[in-house]
Amino acid sequence: MKKFFLRTMGCQMNDHDSEVIKGLLLSLGYDQTEEIEEADLILYNTCCVRENPERKVYGNMAAYKRLKEANPNLIIGICGCMTQQKAELQNIFQQLPHVDLIFGTHNIHRLPELLARAEVGERVVEVWDEAPYAEEGQDFRENLPVERSHRLKAFVNIIYGCTNFCTYCIVPYVRGREHSRLPESVREEVAALVETGYREITLLGQNVNAYGKDLSMETSFSSLLKELNSIEGLARIRFTTSHPRDMGSDLIHAMASLDKVCEHLHLPVQAGSSRVLRRMNRGYTRENYLDLVEKVRKAVPGIALTTDIIVGFPGETEEDFEQTLSLVEEVGFDSAFTFIYSPREGTPAARYADQVPEEVKKERIYRLIELQNKISAQHIQRLVGTEQEVLVEGRDTQGLVGRTRTNRQVHFAGSEELVGELVTVEITEAGTWTLRGKVVHTQA
Ligand code: 5AD
Ligand code: SF4
Repeated sequence: MKKFFLRTMGCQMNDHDSEVIKGLLLSLGYDQTEEIEEADLILYNTCCVRENPERKVYGNMAAYKRLKEANPNLIIGICGCMTQQKAELQNIFQQLPHVDLIFGTHNIHRLPELLARAEVGERVVEVWDEAPYAEEGQDFRENLPVERSHRLKAFVNIIYGCTNFCTYCIVPYVRGREHSRLPESVREEVAALVETGYREITLLGQNVNAYGKDLSMETSFSSLLKELNSIEGLARIRFTTSHPRDMGSDLIHAMASLDKVCEHLHLPVQAGSSRVLRRMNRGYTRENYLDLVEKVRKAVPGIALTTDIIVGFPGETEEDFEQTLSLVEEVGFDSAFTFIYSPREGTPAARYADQVPEEVKKERIYRLIELQNKISAQHIQRLVGTEQEVLVEGRDTQGLVGRTRTNRQVHFAGSEELVGELVTVEITEAGTWTLRGKVVHTQA
């Protein structure tokens, strides 16, 4: 039996795309392997948001040349967001001649045919600029096989693409315009998942708050949440990512009133200075963001807020950066993903003249990480002594493991029968990122 090695970089959209890729490969009779040396197909599902991971792809791919020499039948493939950039596609094609299979994010469903052609020796390159949507709401992946990484929690796409055009971001160029799935298709997928035992879903989109805006029917993200909340047997609903600009009061109300929607909001702020936010084309000011946080916290007490922050955006001064630090302090995020600004060819900010020197960016990100680590530690410590609802997800070397509604990982002792159940856990200890506790109540 042939074996594939699949490596996934980037965001949860890519993680989920990889679940579809795996599903397709398994249906073609391939088996998955974690041993790259024994693979007949090596496939990288790539990300292009920043330069470093891109460089890594080139480095790793160069090293696989040796494997190809040892095994001429080996197929090496690259897919995902990197291939959707014209210049990068050119580079891959020219600099990595031993890569035989290149496809994009809009034609994953074509993998069986493309792979068959690569298997007989053709060098296959097929990247589409847009997904083949014939009709409104249509999803070209509907009914493709999916090999999910987990048996209790599942990712569900609700909207593809992004049309926000933040000036630093390549995503709108590689993932295309916003395109929502029909509410009934989403509902059907979730209901089918619940029927096969899934308890938690994470709704995915680069900007879930824009859900439904491209559909002619009367619908919205908050009404989709309401609809899904009524599915019996489903325990939890999560979603990512939200854009502060499109975070309306209807969504805040939905989060507050729908029992299955978890108390966690990932709300990328990107910067704390209104001047920088304007240059990023984010569509909100520091004050707008702080007001929004206040509203959300008031409506959903105890909600975990997480964020993304970029340091060293072109023109960011020391004062601008200090405003990011003060915003981080003021909001007190549970955790934050912090990034050094990376110029992306084709985006407006990459052409701005006032690029920040690399040493300054590094120095700033260290200061930001140090501050956020201190705040994260305070948040997690505060949980000790509280009781938390935990969905038991499985067992690992440290015992049963699950997550709180606020998405914190907890370990505790208990019987395997609890897997899949909601239990109440009293938190007894907090580490840097994860918790320990003991079960005080089960529904079973
Ligand atoms: N440089 C650095 N970080 C970026 N992000 C997006 N584009 C860039 C870039 N050019 C970050 C943003 C986004 C996250 C997914 O990646 O913070 O929210
Ligand atoms: Fe990376 Fe964006 Fe593609 Fe996700 S959608 S993999 S973050 S480039």
